[in-house]
Amino acid sequence: MLNFDLYMPARIVFGRGTQKEIGKLIKPHAKKVLLHYGGGSIKKTGLYDQVIASLNESGIGYVELGGVVPNPRLKLVHEGIELCRRENVDLILAVGGGSAIDSAKAIAMGVYYDGDVWDIYETGKPIQKALPVAIILTIPAAGSESSGDTVISNEEKGRKYGYGSPLLRPLVSVMNPELFFTLPKEQIAAGVADMMSHIFERYFTNTTHVDLTDALSEATLRTIIANAPRLIDDPRDYDAWAEVGFAGTVAHNGLLGMGREQDWACHDMEHELSAAYDVTHGAGLAVLTPAWMKYVHKDNIDMFAQFALNVMGVSKGLRDKEELVREGIARLQGFYRRMGLPQTLGELGIDGSRLEEMARKGTREYYGKEHPLGGLKKLYWQDVLNIYRIAK
Ligand code: NZQ
Ligand code: ZN
Repeated sequence: MLNFDLYMPARIVFGRGTQKEIGKLIKPHAKKVLLHYGGGSIKKTGLYDQVIASLNESGIGYVELGGVVPNPRLKLVHEGIELCRRENVDLILAVGGGSAIDSAKAIAMGVYYDGDVWDIYETGKPIQKALPVAIILTIPAAGSESSGDTVISNEEKGRKYGYGSPLLRPLVSVMNPELFFTLPKEQIAAGVADMMSHIFERYFTNTTHVDLTDALSEATLRTIIANAPRLIDDPRDYDAWAEVGFAGTVAHNGLLGMGREQDWACHDMEHELSAAYDVTHGAGLAVLTPAWMKYVHKDNIDMFAQFALNVMGVSKGLRDKEELVREGIARLQGFYRRMGLPQTLGELGIDGSRLEEMARKGTREYYGKEHPLGGLKKLYWQDVLNIYRIAK
């Protein structure tokens, strides 16, 4: 096990009706908030009215900025920063999924930053201050409700970069599984693929003597795999949502990665797909993850055999590990298929014409400073291209 520094404060207020408590929850921290949300689902579902009623009841003033799109854009972040400064906002309330939350976090740090907030994403330099962010989660997927991370797309530069700071950990996140009932099936499936990937990125490692985080990761994955198909059959299944929603938070609050070298190659490779083709993050991951497994598993076959046995429930003997691993990957693909997720880049609408460009950009080779991706196996741009080709 490697040395680590675990700091994961995240207040999660969970359960039926909890969104109505939001005014009371943030009252001690805010006189005036920016209400930040996406393309309007919260108005259709009636959540918007409930939030406004709760803010009014608690005497909290607000200004609002909707219109966050999936793969949230820098332009709206700039607008939000201006608005917060002009209106002396002291807290941002994001109501939505990873996109609204990440946009809120970008605004929260941009308010106190003198230059263009995009600099922070490009340089990764530590921030000194950010407005507090509170959340009402409407889709469990990105795990942004418990992470200090934000991912933003710079539409002008065609780049999608992430940034993390402990100062961006949400003050409080409200999670009511009933709010997930209205999600379209593609979003349910993409969210599930994303949260599973957050576990894979930490689970697949060359670090040894990490039994506890291995077991916690496996249990979280098994919980998702057992419950997620029930949501495709019945998106109003509260109990299944409760399991999947909580698992999505555990997947990304940091605990599962402690003491182990992490990977993140699939996420880096996927961010290039989202930047170039605006694909849904989780759908991109469902296509790339099995391709990545096929490409790298020989570098640590024991790790992948453990996955096949403990997560995918393969019960074949251990004599032929290659066969065991192949069966594990096939079962994962079968699960994605059951969820209705795409299996190839072609199904995502991506042809072969920009694969090399994406591989060179993803590893930064394109910008003259190649930085291999991954931990379990270091991937240079040619490796990334090979993986994109397997996924074709
Ligand atoms: O915009 P609205 O109208 O609200 O519609 C949204 C959106 O179209 C819809 N939706 C959300 N809740 C709904 C609903 N529709 C009906 N009923 C509901 N209850 O779902 C669509 C997707 O929303 P989005 O917020 O984009 O989804 P998600 O949570 O998957 O977020 C994806 C973003 O998070 C980033 C991704 O890269 C992507 O940009 N990530 C952020 C991370 C982090 N901050 O820690 C880590 C992740 O790895 C990920 O990269
Ligand atoms: Zn993700």
